[in-house]
Amino acid sequence: MNIHTVSTTPYSDQRPGTSGLRKKVKHFQQPHYLENFVQSLFDCLGELTGKTLVLGGDGRYYNPEAIQIILKMAAANKVGRVLVGREGLFSTPAVSCVIRRYKALGGIILSASHNPAGPEGDFGIKYNISNGGPAPESVTDAIYARSKEIDRYLMVEAEDIPLDSLGIRNLAGMAVEIVNPLADYAELMEELFDFPRIKTLFDTGVFHMHFDAMHAVTGPYAKEILEHRLGADPDTVLNSEPLPDFGGGHPDPNLVYAKSLVAKMYRGNAPSFGAASDGDGDRNMILGKRFFVTPSDSLAILAANAHHIPGYRLGLAGIARSMPTSRAADRVAEALGIECFETPTGWKFFGNLLDAGKVTLCGEESFGTGSDHLREKDGLWAALFWLNILAVRRQSVEAIVREHWANCGRNFYSRHDYEDLPADLSQQLMEDLRKQLPTLKGKRFGQREVILADDFSYTDPIDHSLTTGQGIRLCFEDDARIIYRLSGTGTEGATLRVYLETFEPDPARHDLDTQVALASLIQIADHVAQIQQRTGRAQPSVIT
Ligand code: G6P
Ligand code: ZN
Repeated sequence: MNIHTVSTTPYSDQRPGTSGLRKKVKHFQQPHYLENFVQSLFDCLGELTGKTLVLGGDGRYYNPEAIQIILKMAAANKVGRVLVGREGLFSTPAVSCVIRRYKALGGIILSASHNPAGPEGDFGIKYNISNGGPAPESVTDAIYARSKEIDRYLMVEAEDIPLDSLGIRNLAGMAVEIVNPLADYAELMEELFDFPRIKTLFDTGVFHMHFDAMHAVTGPYAKEILEHRLGADPDTVLNSEPLPDFGGGHPDPNLVYAKSLVAKMYRGNAPSFGAASDGDGDRNMILGKRFFVTPSDSLAILAANAHHIPGYRLGLAGIARSMPTSRAADRVAEALGIECFETPTGWKFFGNLLDAGKVTLCGEESFGTGSDHLREKDGLWAALFWLNILAVRRQSVEAIVREHWANCGRNFYSRHDYEDLPADLSQQLMEDLRKQLPTLKGKRFGQREVILADDFSYTDPIDHSLTTGQGIRLCFEDDARIIYRLSGTGTEGATLRVYLETFEPDPARHDLDTQVALASLIQIADHVAQIQQRTGRAQPSVIT
């Protein structure tokens, strides 16, 4: 066997962010860049002999090349077996599912999630551990530390492995098993949801839906599950073919980017239900006929309706949401008599709670929802959860949401993003906010009094690890909140996110436009942080 030891020098910028290492494709194509990171990972994983890894990506540009490099490095590092999705495809939730089902050591996912792809776009690599979830900070810190001192990597010299047909191949003693990336995931969905009942809903002939795969990885999954197994119309899945540049689009499931779906859901004879997922299949957006469900409301409503779903019929152990996510779910948890955990932004913070059986459902305002069925957020799962609720309740999406608000009150919620700011300017803005914290508590802004002002920190209740500096929180007497936080996922400049939330118990006021309902809070947010003045921006670049 031909194992080469290749000398290399470290790169200083391989610290994984909120969700793995993400850079421009061109950055990854620098000599030894990908190899350095992969070897740093292998060096941190301990004994690899006889171990199984899962490998695949969202189909974006540079995926096929990266897969061949990683396979040859895995063989040289004595990995026992690698399960690779056919054509190199695997959604993030499917990797999580397969790691768990086959008790793999972990999985490597090639994706920059919803970031645009293509030669000028982004590429990314993230590692998931044996519970199927994103590597915790202890692991990513170790990889980063290793990447700063790496001086060699290992690689076998061999032909590329064809990825287009199922079967087992031998790569310098390592088994490369090309598997159907849909099979285990689709089976798991059948275990959780009432497929016969959802089928009946489609059989009525009056219920129609669309799922926008945005030319990314969920196309084949959605076609298999919605159209083939559940009997939805053959044109249900939009943009179903994964393309290396995602068709030039930006596969982020929100009202701005999921254009094909939004056009269909907001026209006269719109279908009853719409959903979209992102590049790697973990995010979701839920729409009714001319109606948008915020991710925070979606989490609360899934929790309140979980008893209708076979996989959750026994009840929820607890709920977890990221700190900036609205507190709609907290009200459901209270009504159900279960605990609601508040974690820093990033799915990895749910892992310990899920493993310890403390929570069943988790969600984030950033269009992520999931459960203990695996250890990632899961876009198609969220759509199926909603479909199952619709099949049982036979009401419209809007009616279900309005009934929920009437029962629990409405948390008006919006996120204002200021994208592409100079890094030093945004850091200074946050620093100055931090300095203001001691003087903010007790301060009044119009009718509102600040009752809590802090920089969010989190002690994991399971392993007691402490995570600090997770966003500036201002909580007011009337249950309103403002949160300031810098994005951890960008590849260019800095993005300031301002999260705004008020609580409205009165159903007569539930029809207000969100931005109108939040207007006075928006003013306070600008006044405290001097956003307009400091950034020179009259308004946010994106409002969700
Ligand atoms: C990724 C992670 C999510 C997280 C989001 C936040 O999508 O998987 O768990 O909520 O990033 O992104 P941000 O840009 O706000 O750091
Ligand atoms: Zn994603």
